[in-house]
Amino acid sequence: MKASYLKILITTLAFTLPLTVNAEDEHHQTQASENTALALPADIKPLLTKEMQQIQLGMMNLLPAISSGQWDKIAEIAKEMQGSYIMKQQLTKEQMQTLHKTLPPAFIGLDQNFHRLAGMLAHVAEERKSELVNFYFYKLTESCGQCHSQYAQQRFPAFAEQGNKEHHH
Ligand code: HEC
Repeated sequence: MKASYLKILITTLAFTLPLTVNAEDEHHQTQASENTALALPADIKPLLTKEMQQIQLGMMNLLPAISSGQWDKIAEIAKEMQGSYIMKQQLTKEQMQTLHKTLPPAFIGLDQNFHRLAGMLAHVAEERKSELVNFYFYKLTESCGQCHSQYAQQRFPAFAEQGNKEHHH
């Protein structure tokens, strides 16, 4: 009796396991197609990369400025980040038109939100409101992840894993 139960169990497992794995694969694929990287034209992509590296540098320079209460420095860096439209500054008219057609409205919204937050940080730094300075630094950090988890999963694959975990549990 016991042996045949075991046999059924093994047979069932043999059939279910590959199916489960396939379902996982499909799931990954759906995730990937839902959160695709931006389909940026090859000539525009390097400009985005450059802009990203610049704002990351801004974030890294903000930390010591905030921790030592250098309000003017914080405001200066934040303003640079607010105005950091390297992409837009260096684009030709044609590239600009292509970009408008390529970028999803949600991406543009996230980008605008980021620049708005940088502006707010500059403002509260000028007013020397340290709690609000910390608040907007946090909001800025949050805005990086918000956009990356949706539009930069190829560059930052950890966000893809996180999405799956949230989905499963
Ligand atoms: C509106 C969307 C958006 C926001 C906001 C955003 N990023 Fe990005 N970021 C991207 C995209 C898209 C990529 C490129 C992904 C790729 O290369 O496929 C990227 C790439 C990067 C890279 C990699 C650049 C490289 O060398 O390849 C860094 C670093 C980076 N972002 C930092 C940041 C930081 C720090 C913040 C917040 C202060 C931020 N980003 C906010 C969209 C965004």
